[in-house]
Amino acid sequence: MKKKVVSILLCTAMAAAVMAGCGSSGNNASSESASSGNSSTSASSEENSAAATDGDLPILGAGIYSATDNFNSYIGRAITKASEGVFQVNVDDGQMDQSTQLNQIDTAIAKGASAIAVSVVDITAAPTIIQKCEDAGNLPLIFFNKEITDKSVVESYDNLYQVTSTGGDYGAAIQGQMILDYWSEHPEADKNGDGKIQMINIMGDPGHTASQPRSDYVKSTITDGGVEIEVLEEDTGMWDTAKAKEKMDAWISKYGDEIEFIVCANDAMALGALQSIEAAGFNTQGTESDQYIPIIGIDALPETLENIRSGEIMGSVLQDAQTQGQAIVAMAKNLIEGKEPLEGTEYEFDTDGSKAVRIPYKAVTVENVDEAAESYE
Ligand code: GAL
Ligand code: CA
Repeated sequence: MKKKVVSILLCTAMAAAVMAGCGSSGNNASSESASSGNSSTSASSEENSAAATDGDLPILGAGIYSATDNFNSYIGRAITKASEGVFQVNVDDGQMDQSTQLNQIDTAIAKGASAIAVSVVDITAAPTIIQKCEDAGNLPLIFFNKEITDKSVVESYDNLYQVTSTGGDYGAAIQGQMILDYWSEHPEADKNGDGKIQMINIMGDPGHTASQPRSDYVKSTITDGGVEIEVLEEDTGMWDTAKAKEKMDAWISKYGDEIEFIVCANDAMALGALQSIEAAGFNTQGTESDQYIPIIGIDALPETLENIRSGEIMGSVLQDAQTQGQAIVAMAKNLIEGKEPLEGTEYEFDTDGSKAVRIPYKAVTVENVDEAAESYE
């Protein structure tokens, strides 16, 4: 793949911002550190304060759109970890509120941030964030997780880059293939013997660039693979465990054992679906259960791996939070040092004009659960 030639706009103001960062020792340890909503560890805040005391390092103004989002919280932690010895960083929680996140970016810039890296609350706010970085002296800006798909926005700022996961299929083609594999290996999964998969489809936040494509690609991969589907119900669970559980509660009581597959656009929702059907007596003994419905998610979160081991969840598609965090930090470092964004790294930009480094998705089942665990250490 051809690496992008980048025009580096390292200006005096940016150098000044780096200097300002040097002077602001310790005052970056705000209380808004990223913590994972549904999961339990508090590693991120400890790591944050450790990094924040290192006043000689430049400041990375980083933020996730919500700390209640499991996967985003893991990327936040990965950024904190990768920043050790490189940046002072405090990963802000945008609390699903765009004005809160914009204020956090203003604060980071006022504190002398040398670069900004955000998972934006609302992708339509990208131009506002770009303007802030431009006004602050062309600060490097890295969007991660929620891809800015409007090319005119991406092209409007030379110092803008993105870090996401691979490709136009948003992991759903892998998910679809896993369903096909399961279907051919488990003839009993066709409970009514009609050759079709009676499925439930729990989708992500409709405002998110990945939601509709994930839903479309999982279905087209299955039908292109020669298996017909019948979607019993589909609706958004907003990436969220509790919301997915609520939807599933209604559907499991309506359809029960007629459901042959539960497809979820992420693992947080797969966990919600599992809670719901377990309460209704399904999947309680994993694959040994009397009543079983395969569930599949995306992300391969640490909190689902035990359920994958037991078969309560059939599988997931890993998004590599750790490598995404490393890529974000490596790029930000290069950019503030006036280098090409990917110098000295093995990452490549996608050639589709997105200016995105995409970290590959990977199928995760009971066979390779341990590899997934490593990506979220
Ligand atoms: C997706 C991820 C979801 C959620 C979403 C939020 O990539 O699979 O779990 O984190 O991003 O932007
Ligand atoms: Ca069937």
